[in-house]
Amino acid sequence: MAGRGRGQGVDNGAVARINPSILSADFVNMQADLERIATADFVHVDVMDNHFVPNLTFGPQMVQRIQETSPVPLDVHLMISDADRWAPGYAELGAASVTFHLEAATDPVTLARRLRSIGARAGVAVKPATPVEGLFDVLDEFDQILVMTVEPGFGGQSFMADQMPKLARLYDEARRRGSQVWLQVDGGISESTIAQAAEAGADTFVAGSAVFGAGEPDRAIAALRSLATEHHRH
Ligand code: DX5
Ligand code: ZN
Repeated sequence: MAGRGRGQGVDNGAVARINPSILSADFVNMQADLERIATADFVHVDVMDNHFVPNLTFGPQMVQRIQETSPVPLDVHLMISDADRWAPGYAELGAASVTFHLEAATDPVTLARRLRSIGARAGVAVKPATPVEGLFDVLDEFDQILVMTVEPGFGGQSFMADQMPKLARLYDEARRRGSQVWLQVDGGISESTIAQAAEAGADTFVAGSAVFGAGEPDRAIAALRSLATEHHRH
């Protein structure tokens, strides 16, 4: 359920959460870049292992320091193999939310329960080619579902509008079941694409280059939040 564990208190009823991805931040000036996004809802932390995706970012030690430094809670996105083994460690270091890939977990429901038991919100992510229908019967096991709108691995790619029907099906199913699960999109979100994602049913939006590529990240966050709120699906 939404609002449990450390996620509690961060859900202020806003219909559009904006989570800047620090994949587009300056890795050697991380503290300064974290302070530039203090108006965000969460900071999105992309962990990549050069195995599940062809790129490498950082691991638990760096995430621990971000956790200690960030003015906003952490939304950790694990693009790593063997999620069952590694994901709980990120919950243990205090991340508000930990999302693993469905394609990288052998027992997603057990893993989600473990993340919740540690106090994190449990998230599951799907790559563009992965269907979501298998999640319908277990929606309540998760606090958020991340529909990737690019192939995971890199920032700055183009938004895949062809993922919107999948997102809309998830939204319909969640409403039909009375689920409070958050629906997140990640990849290519900008002022020109966020409305489509909001209209399809997303309520939580990751944006990397659109926030850190802007001269004033806080203004970019406000503009994205306002567009997403305006186009929020009812
Ligand atoms: C991609 C990452 C994204 C990435 C998004 O694998 O999961 O979080 O940072 O970057 P933009 O917003 O630039 O597409
Ligand atoms: Zn991400």
